[in-house]
Amino acid sequence: MTDLAEARDVDPGKYLQGLGQRRMAIASPCEDTVTMAADAATRALQGFDIDPAEIGTLIVGTETGVDHSKPVAVYVHELLGLDQRCRTFETKHACYGAMAGLTASMDWIGSGRARGRKALVIASDIARYGLKTAGEPTQGAGAVAMVIAEDPRLLAIDPQRIGDYTRQVMDFWRPLYSKYAFADGHYSIQCYLDALAGARVDAVGEEAELLAGLGACLYHVPFVKMAFKAHQRHLEMEYGGPLSKDHTEAWRMLTDSYQRLAAPWLGLNAEIGNIYTGSLFLALIDLLRQAAEGLAGREISLFSYGSGCGATYCIGRIGDRAAHWREALDPAEQLAARRRLSIEEYEGLIGDTEQADTVERLDPARYGLDGGLYYVGTRDHRRQYSRG
Ligand code: HMG
Repeated sequence: MTDLAEARDVDPGKYLQGLGQRRMAIASPCEDTVTMAADAATRALQGFDIDPAEIGTLIVGTETGVDHSKPVAVYVHELLGLDQRCRTFETKHACYGAMAGLTASMDWIGSGRARGRKALVIASDIARYGLKTAGEPTQGAGAVAMVIAEDPRLLAIDPQRIGDYTRQVMDFWRPLYSKYAFADGHYSIQCYLDALAGARVDAVGEEAELLAGLGACLYHVPFVKMAFKAHQRHLEMEYGGPLSKDHTEAWRMLTDSYQRLAAPWLGLNAEIGNIYTGSLFLALIDLLRQAAEGLAGREISLFSYGSGCGATYCIGRIGDRAAHWREALDPAEQLAARRRLSIEEYEGLIGDTEQADTVERLDPARYGLDGGLYYVGTRDHRRQYSRG
Protein backbone atom coordinates (compact mmCIF):
# COMPACT_ATOMS: atom_id res chain seq x y z
CA MET A 1 0.00 0.00 0.00
CA THR A 2 2.88 2.34 0.77
CA ASP A 3 4.46 1.64 -2.65
CA LEU A 4 1.14 2.22 -4.38
CA ALA A 5 0.46 5.42 -2.45
CA GLU A 6 3.88 6.79 -3.36
CA ALA A 7 3.37 5.89 -7.02
CA ARG A 8 0.00 7.66 -7.01
CA ASP A 9 1.35 10.67 -5.12
CA VAL A 10 -0.99 10.06 -2.20
CA ASP A 11 -0.07 10.24 1.50
CA PRO A 12 0.37 6.55 2.54
CA GLY A 13 -1.63 7.36 5.68
CA LYS A 14 -4.75 7.48 3.50
CA TYR A 15 -4.41 3.85 2.43
CA LEU A 16 -2.90 2.53 5.68
CA GLN A 17 -5.03 4.33 8.28
CA GLY A 18 -7.76 5.96 6.19
CA LEU A 19 -8.74 2.68 4.48
CA GLY A 20 -7.00 0.32 6.94
CA GLN A 21 -5.20 -1.72 4.24
CA ARG A 22 -1.63 -3.06 4.40
CA ARG A 23 -1.25 -5.07 1.15
CA MET A 24 -3.40 -6.35 -1.68
CA ALA A 25 -3.29 -9.60 -3.62
CA ILE A 26 -2.89 -9.35 -7.40
CA ALA A 27 -3.75 -12.35 -9.58
CA SER A 28 -1.53 -13.10 -12.56
CA PRO A 29 -3.15 -13.68 -16.00
CA CYS A 30 -2.80 -17.45 -15.36
CA GLU A 31 -4.92 -17.29 -12.19
CA ASP A 32 -8.64 -16.75 -12.58
CA THR A 33 -11.87 -17.39 -10.73
CA VAL A 34 -11.79 -21.07 -11.74
CA THR A 35 -8.23 -21.80 -10.60
CA MET A 36 -8.67 -19.98 -7.30
CA ALA A 37 -12.01 -21.70 -6.63
CA ALA A 38 -10.64 -25.16 -7.41
CA ASP A 39 -7.58 -24.54 -5.25
CA ALA A 40 -9.62 -23.37 -2.25
CA ALA A 41 -12.07 -26.27 -2.63
CA THR A 42 -9.29 -28.87 -2.85
CA ARG A 43 -7.81 -27.50 0.37
CA ALA A 44 -11.22 -27.56 2.06
CA LEU A 45 -12.03 -31.15 1.09
CA GLN A 46 -8.57 -32.49 1.90
CA GLY A 47 -8.02 -30.42 5.04
CA PHE A 48 -11.37 -31.39 6.53
CA ASP A 49 -11.30 -35.07 5.40
CA ILE A 50 -14.38 -34.80 3.20
CA ASP A 51 -14.94 -37.36 0.48
CA PRO A 52 -15.90 -35.56 -2.78
CA ALA A 53 -18.64 -38.21 -3.21
CA GLU A 54 -20.45 -36.61 -0.23
CA ILE A 55 -20.98 -33.34 -2.16
CA GLY A 56 -24.51 -33.12 -3.61
CA THR A 57 -24.60 -29.39 -4.42
CA LEU A 58 -21.79 -27.16 -5.70
CA ILE A 59 -22.32 -23.40 -5.86
CA VAL A 60 -19.71 -20.85 -6.88
CA GLY A 61 -20.50 -17.27 -5.93
CA THR A 62 -18.65 -14.81 -8.16
CA GLU A 63 -19.02 -11.50 -9.91
CA THR A 64 -15.88 -12.11 -12.00
CA GLY A 65 -16.99 -15.17 -13.95
CA VAL A 66 -15.06 -16.31 -17.02
CA ASP A 67 -17.96 -16.70 -19.45
CA HIS A 68 -21.34 -15.02 -19.99
CA SER A 69 -23.05 -18.41 -20.14
CA LYS A 70 -20.94 -21.25 -18.77
CA PRO A 71 -20.64 -21.23 -14.99
CA VAL A 72 -17.29 -21.29 -13.19
CA ALA A 73 -18.87 -24.00 -11.05
CA VAL A 74 -18.97 -26.57 -13.85
CA TYR A 75 -15.23 -26.23 -14.51
CA VAL A 76 -14.66 -26.67 -10.78
CA HIS A 77 -16.99 -29.68 -10.73
CA GLU A 78 -14.72 -31.45 -13.21
CA LEU A 79 -11.48 -30.34 -11.60
CA LEU A 80 -12.61 -31.73 -8.23
CA GLY A 81 -13.95 -34.97 -9.72
CA LEU A 82 -17.43 -34.53 -8.23
CA ASP A 83 -20.30 -36.92 -8.92
CA GLN A 84 -22.45 -36.24 -12.02
CA ARG A 85 -25.54 -36.31 -9.78
CA CYS A 86 -24.26 -33.16 -8.05
CA ARG A 87 -26.41 -30.05 -8.67
CA THR A 88 -23.99 -27.35 -9.86
CA PHE A 89 -24.47 -23.63 -10.53
CA GLU A 90 -23.06 -20.13 -10.20
CA THR A 91 -24.58 -17.25 -8.23
CA LYS A 92 -23.98 -13.61 -9.07
CA HIS A 93 -25.02 -10.66 -6.99
CA ALA A 94 -21.86 -8.58 -6.57
CA CYS A 95 -20.27 -9.42 -3.20
CA TYR A 96 -23.43 -11.19 -2.04
CA GLY A 97 -23.17 -14.27 -4.31
CA ALA A 98 -21.57 -16.64 -1.80
CA MET A 99 -23.95 -15.74 1.03
CA ALA A 100 -26.84 -16.36 -1.38
CA GLY A 101 -25.28 -19.77 -2.11
CA LEU A 102 -24.77 -20.50 1.55
CA THR A 103 -28.37 -19.80 2.56
CA ALA A 104 -29.66 -21.68 -0.53
CA SER A 105 -27.58 -24.67 0.61
CA MET A 106 -29.08 -24.47 4.08
CA ASP A 107 -32.55 -24.49 2.46
CA TRP A 108 -31.54 -27.50 0.33
CA ILE A 109 -30.47 -29.39 3.44
CA GLY A 110 -33.47 -28.22 5.49
CA SER A 111 -35.92 -29.34 2.81
CA GLY A 112 -34.67 -32.93 3.06
CA ARG A 113 -33.51 -32.91 -0.57
CA ALA A 114 -29.86 -33.35 0.38
CA ARG A 115 -30.47 -36.92 1.64
CA GLY A 116 -27.44 -36.74 3.95
CA ARG A 117 -25.15 -35.13 1.39
CA LYS A 118 -23.24 -31.88 1.84
CA ALA A 119 -23.02 -28.67 -0.19
CA LEU A 120 -19.79 -27.04 -1.31
CA VAL A 121 -20.06 -23.26 -1.58
CA ILE A 122 -17.12 -21.35 -3.02
CA ALA A 123 -16.58 -17.59 -3.14
CA SER A 124 -14.06 -16.66 -5.81
CA ASP A 125 -13.34 -13.19 -7.18
CA ILE A 126 -10.80 -10.73 -8.52
CA ALA A 127 -11.53 -7.12 -7.58
CA ARG A 128 -10.44 -4.76 -10.35
CA TYR A 129 -11.12 -1.04 -10.41
CA GLY A 130 -8.39 -0.01 -12.81
CA LEU A 131 -5.17 1.95 -12.46
CA LYS A 132 -5.30 5.39 -10.83
CA THR A 133 -8.95 5.14 -9.77
CA ALA A 134 -10.27 5.85 -6.25
CA GLY A 135 -11.01 2.13 -5.91
CA GLU A 136 -7.48 1.02 -6.88
CA PRO A 137 -6.22 0.58 -3.28
CA THR A 138 -9.31 -1.55 -2.52
CA GLN A 139 -8.54 -4.30 -5.05
CA GLY A 140 -7.64 -7.89 -4.18
CA ALA A 141 -8.06 -11.49 -5.33
CA GLY A 142 -8.91 -14.75 -3.60
CA ALA A 143 -11.29 -17.58 -2.91
CA VAL A 144 -12.86 -19.18 0.15
CA ALA A 145 -14.47 -22.64 0.05
CA MET A 146 -17.04 -23.79 2.62
CA VAL A 147 -18.71 -27.12 3.20
CA ILE A 148 -22.32 -26.79 4.37
CA ALA A 149 -23.59 -29.76 6.34
CA GLU A 150 -26.41 -30.72 8.66
CA ASP A 151 -23.94 -31.08 11.56
CA PRO A 152 -21.45 -28.22 10.97
CA ARG A 153 -18.07 -28.36 12.68
CA LEU A 154 -17.11 -24.69 12.64
CA LEU A 155 -20.23 -22.52 12.67
CA ALA A 156 -23.94 -23.32 12.97
CA ILE A 157 -26.13 -20.56 11.47
CA ASP A 158 -29.52 -20.15 13.16
CA PRO A 159 -32.19 -20.37 10.40
CA GLN A 160 -34.61 -18.41 12.63
CA ARG A 161 -32.27 -15.42 12.74
CA ILE A 162 -31.41 -14.70 9.12
CA GLY A 163 -32.52 -11.32 7.77
CA ASP A 164 -32.54 -10.14 4.17
CA TYR A 165 -32.53 -6.78 2.37
CA THR A 166 -32.82 -5.79 -1.32
CA ARG A 167 -32.90 -2.35 -3.00
CA GLN A 168 -32.13 -1.28 -6.57
CA VAL A 169 -29.21 1.18 -6.31
CA MET A 170 -26.37 2.18 -8.66
CA ASP A 171 -23.55 2.15 -6.13
CA PHE A 172 -21.17 -0.28 -7.88
CA TRP A 173 -21.59 -2.20 -11.13
CA ARG A 174 -19.63 -3.69 -14.03
CA PRO A 175 -21.26 -3.39 -17.47
CA LEU A 176 -20.91 -6.31 -19.90
CA TYR A 177 -18.32 -4.41 -21.93
CA SER A 178 -15.97 -3.64 -19.04
CA LYS A 179 -13.36 -5.67 -17.14
CA TYR A 180 -13.34 -2.95 -14.50
CA ALA A 181 -15.98 -2.08 -11.94
CA PHE A 182 -17.55 1.36 -11.77
CA ALA A 183 -18.33 2.66 -8.31
CA ASP A 184 -20.02 5.67 -6.79
CA GLY A 185 -17.70 5.15 -3.82
CA HIS A 186 -19.14 7.36 -1.08
CA TYR A 187 -22.73 6.52 -2.04
CA SER A 188 -21.83 2.81 -1.92
CA ILE A 189 -20.78 3.21 1.71
CA GLN A 190 -24.17 4.73 2.52
CA CYS A 191 -25.99 1.92 0.67
CA TYR A 192 -23.97 -0.67 2.60
CA LEU A 193 -24.86 0.92 5.95
CA ASP A 194 -28.57 1.19 5.09
CA ALA A 195 -28.57 -2.46 4.04
CA LEU A 196 -26.92 -3.46 7.32
CA ALA A 197 -29.66 -1.70 9.27
CA GLY A 198 -32.42 -3.23 7.12
CA ALA A 199 -31.13 -6.80 7.20
CA ARG A 200 -30.42 -6.66 10.92
CA VAL A 201 -33.97 -5.57 11.70
CA ASP A 202 -35.28 -8.38 9.52
CA ALA A 203 -33.09 -10.90 11.38
CA VAL A 204 -33.52 -9.90 15.00
CA GLY A 205 -36.11 -7.11 15.16
CA GLU A 206 -35.91 -3.46 16.13
CA GLU A 207 -35.47 -3.73 19.86
CA ALA A 208 -33.12 -6.65 20.34
CA GLU A 209 -30.04 -5.91 22.44
CA LEU A 210 -27.66 -8.28 20.84
CA LEU A 211 -24.15 -6.94 20.88
CA ALA A 212 -23.49 -7.41 24.58
CA GLY A 213 -24.10 -11.13 24.20
CA LEU A 214 -22.08 -11.67 21.02
CA GLY A 215 -18.52 -13.00 20.88
CA ALA A 216 -17.76 -11.29 17.54
CA CYS A 217 -19.25 -9.21 14.71
CA LEU A 218 -18.13 -10.06 11.18
CA TYR A 219 -18.83 -7.80 8.22
CA HIS A 220 -18.33 -7.67 4.49
CA VAL A 221 -14.94 -5.97 4.23
CA PRO A 222 -14.30 -4.05 0.98
CA PHE A 223 -11.59 -2.27 2.98
CA VAL A 224 -10.89 -2.55 6.70
CA LYS A 225 -12.18 0.90 7.70
CA MET A 226 -15.59 -0.12 6.31
CA ALA A 227 -15.88 -2.64 9.14
CA PHE A 228 -15.48 0.21 11.63
CA LYS A 229 -18.21 2.23 9.92
CA ALA A 230 -20.43 -0.87 9.92
CA HIS A 231 -19.80 -1.55 13.58
CA GLN A 232 -20.62 2.05 14.37
CA ARG A 233 -24.00 1.72 12.60
CA HIS A 234 -24.57 -1.64 14.30
CA LEU A 235 -24.01 -0.15 17.74
CA GLU A 236 -26.00 2.99 16.94
CA MET A 237 -29.03 0.80 16.32
CA GLU A 238 -28.88 -0.36 19.92
CA TYR A 239 -27.73 2.96 21.35
CA GLY A 240 -30.69 4.66 19.70
CA GLY A 241 -28.84 7.57 18.05
CA PRO A 242 -25.63 8.71 16.38
CA LEU A 243 -22.32 7.99 18.09
CA SER A 244 -19.95 10.85 17.38
CA LYS A 245 -16.44 11.83 18.41
CA ASP A 246 -17.93 14.90 20.16
CA HIS A 247 -19.37 12.65 22.85
CA THR A 248 -16.26 11.20 24.41
CA GLU A 249 -17.94 8.52 26.53
CA ALA A 250 -20.12 7.22 23.71
CA TRP A 251 -17.18 7.25 21.31
CA ARG A 252 -15.05 5.30 23.79
CA MET A 253 -17.85 2.74 24.10
CA LEU A 254 -17.83 2.37 20.31
CA THR A 255 -14.06 2.02 19.97
CA ASP A 256 -13.91 -0.48 22.87
CA SER A 257 -16.71 -2.52 21.32
CA TYR A 258 -15.01 -2.42 17.88
CA GLN A 259 -11.66 -3.47 19.36
CA ARG A 260 -13.31 -6.41 21.13
CA LEU A 261 -15.81 -7.65 18.54
CA ALA A 262 -14.62 -6.70 15.05
CA ALA A 263 -11.02 -5.46 14.80
CA PRO A 264 -9.22 -8.67 15.87
CA TRP A 265 -10.53 -10.57 12.83
CA LEU A 266 -9.59 -8.12 10.09
CA GLY A 267 -5.95 -9.17 9.65
CA LEU A 268 -6.48 -11.29 6.54
CA ASN A 269 -8.63 -8.62 4.90
CA ALA A 270 -5.89 -6.03 5.54
CA GLU A 271 -3.29 -8.35 3.96
CA ILE A 272 -5.32 -9.51 0.94
CA GLY A 273 -7.70 -6.67 0.06
CA ASN A 274 -11.25 -6.96 -1.20
CA ILE A 275 -12.00 -10.44 -2.51
CA TYR A 276 -15.60 -9.39 -3.06
CA THR A 277 -17.98 -12.25 -2.25
CA GLY A 278 -15.41 -14.07 -0.07
CA SER A 279 -14.34 -11.13 2.04
CA LEU A 280 -16.82 -11.73 4.90
CA PHE A 281 -15.62 -15.32 5.05
CA LEU A 282 -11.96 -14.24 5.17
CA ALA A 283 -12.87 -12.49 8.42
CA LEU A 284 -14.51 -15.71 9.61
CA ILE A 285 -11.33 -17.67 8.83
CA ASP A 286 -9.28 -15.09 10.71
CA LEU A 287 -11.57 -15.46 13.73
CA LEU A 288 -11.49 -19.26 13.64
CA ARG A 289 -7.72 -19.49 13.30
CA GLN A 290 -7.17 -17.20 16.26
CA ALA A 291 -10.06 -17.61 18.65
CA ALA A 292 -12.05 -20.76 17.91
CA GLU A 293 -11.17 -22.14 21.34
CA GLY A 294 -12.07 -19.05 23.36
CA LEU A 295 -15.27 -18.46 21.39
CA ALA A 296 -16.43 -22.11 21.33
CA GLY A 297 -20.19 -22.22 21.88
CA ARG A 298 -20.50 -18.41 21.58
CA GLU A 299 -22.77 -16.61 19.13
CA ILE A 300 -21.43 -14.25 16.47
CA SER A 301 -23.10 -12.03 13.86
CA LEU A 302 -22.31 -12.09 10.14
CA PHE A 303 -23.24 -9.44 7.59
CA SER A 304 -22.89 -9.92 3.85
CA TYR A 305 -23.41 -6.99 1.46
CA GLY A 306 -23.46 -7.06 -2.33
CA SER A 307 -23.73 -3.85 -4.28
CA GLY A 308 -26.70 -3.22 -6.42
CA CYS A 309 -27.84 -4.18 -3.71
CA GLY A 310 -28.59 -7.27 -1.62
CA ALA A 311 -27.64 -8.20 1.92
CA THR A 312 -28.07 -10.79 4.65
CA TYR A 313 -27.50 -10.48 8.39
CA CYS A 314 -27.43 -13.65 10.47
CA ILE A 315 -26.44 -15.15 13.80
CA GLY A 316 -24.34 -18.28 14.13
CA ARG A 317 -22.74 -20.30 16.91
CA ILE A 318 -19.07 -21.34 16.90
CA GLY A 319 -18.69 -25.12 17.17
CA ASP A 320 -17.41 -26.64 20.41
CA ARG A 321 -14.57 -28.41 18.58
CA ALA A 322 -13.90 -25.77 15.93
CA ALA A 323 -10.36 -25.19 17.25
CA HIS A 324 -9.46 -28.73 16.21
CA TRP A 325 -9.55 -27.58 12.55
CA ARG A 326 -7.44 -24.47 13.02
CA GLU A 327 -4.46 -25.69 11.02
CA ALA A 328 -6.58 -26.84 8.09
CA LEU A 329 -8.05 -23.38 7.57
CA ASP A 330 -5.08 -21.14 8.29
CA PRO A 331 -3.71 -19.67 5.01
CA ALA A 332 -0.51 -18.36 6.68
CA GLU A 333 1.72 -20.57 4.54
CA GLN A 334 0.15 -19.39 1.28
CA LEU A 335 0.43 -15.78 2.37
CA ALA A 336 4.08 -16.23 3.28
CA ALA A 337 4.74 -17.62 -0.22
CA ARG A 338 3.47 -14.47 -1.94
CA ARG A 339 5.92 -12.36 -3.89
CA ARG A 340 6.16 -8.60 -3.55
CA LEU A 341 5.54 -6.87 -6.87
CA SER A 342 7.12 -3.62 -7.92
CA ILE A 343 4.65 -1.04 -9.22
CA GLU A 344 5.99 -1.64 -12.76
CA GLU A 345 5.37 -5.41 -12.44
CA TYR A 346 1.90 -4.79 -11.01
CA GLU A 347 0.95 -2.47 -13.85
CA GLY A 348 2.41 -4.97 -16.36
CA LEU A 349 0.29 -7.77 -14.90
CA ILE A 350 -2.84 -5.66 -15.16
CA GLY A 351 -2.02 -4.96 -18.82
CA ASP A 352 -1.37 -8.65 -19.57
CA THR A 353 -4.60 -9.64 -17.82
CA GLU A 354 -6.59 -7.34 -20.10
CA GLN A 355 -5.44 -9.47 -23.07
CA ALA A 356 -5.48 -12.87 -21.34
CA ASP A 357 -8.96 -13.99 -22.46
CA THR A 358 -7.98 -13.84 -26.13
CA VAL A 359 -4.38 -15.11 -25.94
CA GLU A 360 -3.90 -18.66 -27.28
CA ARG A 361 -0.98 -19.65 -25.09
CA LEU A 362 -0.03 -18.32 -21.69
CA ASP A 363 3.05 -19.60 -19.88
CA PRO A 364 2.69 -19.66 -16.06
CA ALA A 365 6.51 -19.75 -15.72
CA ARG A 366 6.60 -16.24 -17.21
CA TYR A 367 4.83 -15.08 -14.05
CA GLY A 368 6.99 -17.16 -11.69
CA LEU A 369 4.22 -19.74 -11.27
CA ASP A 370 4.85 -23.45 -10.99
CA GLY A 371 3.18 -26.53 -9.51
CA GLY A 372 -0.44 -25.38 -9.46
CA LEU A 373 -3.55 -25.34 -11.59
CA TYR A 374 -3.38 -22.53 -14.15
CA TYR A 375 -5.35 -20.94 -16.96
CA VAL A 376 -3.08 -21.32 -20.00
CA GLY A 377 -4.99 -19.59 -22.80
CA THR A 378 -8.10 -19.75 -24.97
CA ARG A 379 -7.98 -21.94 -28.07
CA ASP A 380 -10.88 -22.35 -30.48
CA HIS A 381 -12.89 -20.14 -28.06
CA ARG A 382 -12.37 -22.72 -25.27
CA ARG A 383 -10.56 -21.85 -22.04
CA GLN A 384 -7.68 -24.20 -21.31
CA TYR A 385 -6.52 -25.22 -17.84
CA SER A 386 -3.39 -27.16 -16.97
CA ARG A 387 -1.70 -28.47 -13.82
CA GLY A 388 1.90 -27.24 -13.84
P1 HMG B 1 -11.61 8.36 -1.65
O1 HMG B 1 -12.65 9.37 -1.96
O2 HMG B 1 -10.38 8.36 -2.48
O3 HMG B 1 -11.13 8.47 -0.17
O4 HMG B 1 -12.24 6.91 -1.78
P2 HMG B 1 -11.65 9.43 1.01
O5 HMG B 1 -11.33 10.83 0.70
O6 HMG B 1 -13.07 9.07 1.37
O7 HMG B 1 -10.69 8.92 2.17
C1 HMG B 1 -10.81 7.65 2.71
C2 HMG B 1 -10.52 7.74 4.21
O8 HMG B 1 -9.14 8.06 4.39
C3 HMG B 1 -11.30 8.83 4.93
O9 HMG B 1 -11.62 8.33 6.20
C4 HMG B 1 -10.27 9.97 5.04
O10 HMG B 1 -10.53 10.85 6.10
C5 HMG B 1 -9.02 9.16 5.27
P3 HMG B 1 -13.15 8.36 6.74
O11 HMG B 1 -13.56 9.80 6.70
O12 HMG B 1 -13.95 7.54 5.76
O13 HMG B 1 -13.08 7.77 8.10
N1 HMG B 1 -7.76 9.87 4.94
C6 HMG B 1 -6.64 9.77 5.65
N2 HMG B 1 -6.37 9.12 6.81
C7 HMG B 1 -5.09 9.20 7.30
N3 HMG B 1 -4.11 9.92 6.69
C8 HMG B 1 -4.36 10.58 5.54
C9 HMG B 1 -5.67 10.52 4.97
N4 HMG B 1 -6.24 11.06 3.88
C10 HMG B 1 -7.53 10.64 3.85
N5 HMG B 1 -3.38 11.29 4.97
C11 HMG B 1 -13.48 4.92 -1.37
C12 HMG B 1 -12.52 5.97 -0.78
C13 HMG B 1 -13.67 3.81 -0.35
C14 HMG B 1 -14.82 5.59 -1.65
C15 HMG B 1 -12.85 4.37 -2.68
O14 HMG B 1 -11.69 3.64 -2.38
C16 HMG B 1 -13.79 3.49 -3.48
O15 HMG B 1 -14.56 3.97 -4.30
N6 HMG B 1 -13.72 2.14 -3.26
C17 HMG B 1 -14.57 1.19 -3.97
C18 HMG B 1 -16.01 1.16 -3.45
C19 HMG B 1 -16.11 0.56 -2.05
O16 HMG B 1 -15.23 -0.14 -1.59
N7 HMG B 1 -17.27 0.76 -1.40
C20 HMG B 1 -17.54 0.18 -0.10
C21 HMG B 1 -19.02 -0.06 0.17
S1 HMG B 1 -19.82 -0.94 -1.18
C22 HMG B 1 -19.28 -2.59 -0.97
O17 HMG B 1 -18.76 -2.93 0.04
C23 HMG B 1 -19.47 -3.53 -2.13
C24 HMG B 1 -18.22 -3.86 -2.91
O18 HMG B 1 -17.42 -4.75 -2.18
C25 HMG B 1 -18.58 -4.40 -4.28
C26 HMG B 1 -19.52 -5.57 -4.39
O19 HMG B 1 -20.51 -5.71 -3.69
O20 HMG B 1 -19.28 -6.35 -5.30
C27 HMG B 1 -17.36 -2.62 -3.16
